Amino acid sequence: MKPLASSFLAAVVAVGLASAAQADDNTLSPAAEAGRQEFNTYCVPCHGESAKGDGVAAAALKDKPADLTMIAARNGGRWDATAVAETIDGRRDMPAHGSREMPIWGKFLGQDAQDETDQESLIQGRVALLVAYLETIQAEAPEAPREGSGK
Ligand code: HEC
Repeated sequence: MKPLASSFLAAVVAVGLASAAQADDNTLSPAAEAGRQEFNTYCVPCHGESAKGDGVAAAALKDKPADLTMIAARNGGRWDATAVAETIDGRRDMPAHGSREMPIWGKFLGQDAQDETDQESLIQGRVALLVAYLETIQAEAPEAPREGSGK
């Protein structure tokens, strides 16, 4: 039994190492990785796995969910983390052009908190993780000619 178990473990470690080595330049920081998981849970239904606005629920909305890989590009190439965080949070959003179809995440992400102070930091923390992830998927990263796959 023991040899079997440890060779299984060795295989798992080997696979882990191989994919870590391979993933090298798209390995996410811990914050971005946590944000990616939040994104998969809450955002993919509308924005899609690609984040380009092609989620399964998108068809039922009046407005097409935004392409979240183009936020910086639409902002002249600048990544404004504070503005993106406020958009996601939504509690301060002034409905400039009618109603917002996207949920006001600031109302949901703090629901597990014990008290108000705790709640605010929970909300801001979780929004920050989402922002960290979104930053990694922006199109047109300044210097990233992605031709040829590692040859
Ligand atoms: C119910 C569908 C829906 C879900 C779920 C959803 N969104 Fe959205 N989102 C939209 C729509 C629609 C828009 C376009 C603006 C609007 O109508 O509110 C949008 C716009 C945005 C924008 C603004 C983009 C820009 O260029 O200004 C950001 C950022 C965003 N969403 C992030 C998120 C994140 C992060 C999540 C998950 C926590 C999420 N969305 C979940 C529907 C959704």
